[in-house]
Amino acid sequence: MDIRGTETPLLNWTGDALALGFFEDSMELTETLQKLDEKLNRNLRELITETEFEGKSSNNVVTRIGSGSPVQKIILVGLGKTEDLTLDTVRLGAATIARLAKQAKVKTLGINLPVVNDDAASTVSAITQGVILPLHQDNRFKSEPDKNELKLEKVEILGCGEHREAINKAQTLCSGVILARELVAAPANSVTPVTFAEIAQTIAQDHGLDIEILERKECQNLGMGAFLGVAQASDLPPKFIHITYKPSETPQKKLAIVGKSLTFDSGGLNLKGSQSGIETMKMDMGGGAATLGAAKVIGQLKPDVEVHFICAVTENMISGRAMHPGDILTASNGKTIEVNNTDAEGRLTLADALVFAEKLGVDAIVDLATLTGACVVALGDNISGLWSTDETLATQIKKAGAMAGEKVWEMPLEEKYFEGLKSPIADIKNTGPRAGGAITAALFLKQFIKETPWAHLDIAGPVWLDKEDGVNNSGATGFPVQTLVHWVLNQ
Ligand code: BES
Ligand code: MN
Ligand code: ZN
Repeated sequence: MDIRGTETPLLNWTGDALALGFFEDSMELTETLQKLDEKLNRNLRELITETEFEGKSSNNVVTRIGSGSPVQKIILVGLGKTEDLTLDTVRLGAATIARLAKQAKVKTLGINLPVVNDDAASTVSAITQGVILPLHQDNRFKSEPDKNELKLEKVEILGCGEHREAINKAQTLCSGVILARELVAAPANSVTPVTFAEIAQTIAQDHGLDIEILERKECQNLGMGAFLGVAQASDLPPKFIHITYKPSETPQKKLAIVGKSLTFDSGGLNLKGSQSGIETMKMDMGGGAATLGAAKVIGQLKPDVEVHFICAVTENMISGRAMHPGDILTASNGKTIEVNNTDAEGRLTLADALVFAEKLGVDAIVDLATLTGACVVALGDNISGLWSTDETLATQIKKAGAMAGEKVWEMPLEEKYFEGLKSPIADIKNTGPRAGGAITAALFLKQFIKETPWAHLDIAGPVWLDKEDGVNNSGATGFPVQTLVHWVLNQ
């Protein structure tokens, strides 16, 4: 799909469909739109009256003008109130337009949406994302791809200027989001620890990143007893992936991104039932998927910060070699852990990954993990929980999330709840009481960080959507690739 910003005035644009955004509090036609209306034989005005289109958000209309007209179809999208205009409004508006254009089998589309905060580059970039992300369709596992499907071929963004660079950047960002979506959506017999490592290798190669993959033996030498405890029942070998992006000049800052990478979480001997969604647990590498997605984007955008991408990849399985509930593991920082629940495995794999990240001497660490059902209960499907030991870092992540249109909500690292993780026999247990389960999970992780500013995102809700939400289709979302990229770029 060719997306570009064009200087062509609205009145001169020709193509299959022209999409116009309207605010509910300024529905009267501007001078330009009055001229357009005349050009379209007063179809525009009639359409608005006939369909009682009021410009409210989620209020949309498509109509055919007829052949011979400079535009064959008109798409109207409601943007809500003028004062509520943000980048999210245009991103969602563009997504609605893209979906309607696809349904209407449009090949060439013109989009006319308002510029947000006089920032044409950001507006064009939000529109680009809004067009690309909902149109991504995953047919990899269908035996016959939909051959009859007509594709949107050309999109022209009107009234913002050319902004080639902003569009390219947005397209690169989307390619990272789509990579993460495809990794999460692929089943556990397709994305395994072995194939995940192969994909990481390809990404590193394609974008000039350094990569090191530690095998079981090397992890043993580093004392990663917590990660390897989780991995021990699987027939597939664990892979500890470390990708490094180094800018050409000496970096001002070094960052680490750590993603929970369970290619499948059966729960282990504390086996999940269908009640706890065992059939959805291919998504348990959502953190790792976003980590690779971010690596793919950062490798192309080349900011002047050094970034380490870390994924401790394995499956949580059952077999004669499986961890017993009650087993005691020793992590690579020497801490002993009583595994009172084998289904709290993500934090065990992350424990060793966080220790590894801190040893790199980075300035900040962010981890992303589909860590707890408790976080989904607390914040629902659309919002990720954020915990941090550092206010500056927390603020950066919140800002990056807002720019990305990915929702994060800060939660407390309530030290008092650490009581719940005390073990009579080892240093700590891996699970506490049911109440506050997402908080104790974060407190558990904190045990594996000494002093580096650290933030934890529990993304168990937003990595997957049961229902389409405008920009994202149902299924894997690619959350929070965009937040990570904005965080790195805005250092
Ligand atoms: N991978 C799950 C968390 C999860 C739940 C992700 C729902 C996505 C959707 C995690 O490993 C897990 O099993 N957590 C347990 C922790 C409990 C045993 C303390 C949970 O949330 O039930
Ligand atoms: Mn689990
Ligand atoms: Zn899990």
